[in-house]
Amino acid sequence: MTNPQALPRGTQPEGAKSQDEASRQVREMFTRIAPRYDLLNHLLSMQMDRLWRARTSRELRPILWRPDTVVLDLCCGTGDLAFALRHGAKSHIIGADFSHTMLVRAREKAVAANDASPIPFLEADALRLPFPDRSFDLVTSAFGFRNLANYEDGLKEIFRVLKREGTIGILEFAEAPPGILRDAYRFYTRSVLPKIGAWISGDREAYAYLPRSVSRFFRPEEFAAVLERVGYAQVRYHLMTLGSVALHLAVRP
Ligand SMILES: C[S@@+](CC[C@H](N)C(=O)[O-])C[C@H]1O[C@@H](n2cnc3c(N)ncnc32)[C@H](O)[C@@H]1O
Repeated sequence: MTNPQALPRGTQPEGAKSQDEASRQVREMFTRIAPRYDLLNHLLSMQMDRLWRARTSRELRPILWRPDTVVLDLCCGTGDLAFALRHGAKSHIIGADFSHTMLVRAREKAVAANDASPIPFLEADALRLPFPDRSFDLVTSAFGFRNLANYEDGLKEIFRVLKREGTIGILEFAEAPPGILRDAYRFYTRSVLPKIGAWISGDREAYAYLPRSVSRFFRPEEFAAVLERVGYAQVRYHLMTLGSVALHLAVRP
């Protein structure tokens, strides 16, 4: 059993002394790396990020393909999960993020896709969403949730905006179980990835933050327990790529 005191409350970038400071640092960091974000995402994950989002979209298809489903993709960044969810689906999807520069890139991609009804991308903080209670059938987030300054508050805010029987789907990195694979993963994420990230983005701190934030985040079974504690039902998760990524699913009763 994990000691609840030992669990992380929220992300903690180096030197951040309060939740507001942590949020501000995260927003500034993503704003700085936005121009190279997509390139580095695909390069550093060896294109696996596309598969993880596609698998998420497939898992959620029964919800996405209902005609009047309303979806919020939180921490949408440059929009890649929102675009993957949209793929062939009939639902109405909105993307939200608190980094203006990431959203500018998402909007450019939406325009380039020449879609008859482009996905709207709007600026919002995941901890203070500008939506009424029970607005969405599905709330998703890919690789964004881990960066929130308070995880329980984030889950409660998502709970608030979900309709009854609405689904939460969170795709996040996880550390593989102890063993040679985890050692290889740690070597890659701690020694190789920050160097390539720093070299291409020019931002050493941002790509050193990534592995630190992953190893501080919950293990999948811990996160499942937090979802249950906040009040979600039907909590489950699927591991991908040797346990390095987890898709967490649950329902607001
Ligand atoms: C690693 S990126 C993920 C982007 C996208 N979902 C993807 O799959 O590529 C994390 C995103 O979360 C956003 N973010 C972090 N904390 C946030 C918050 N409190 N509210 C809104 N967006 C947040 C950042 O601005 C950044 O764009």
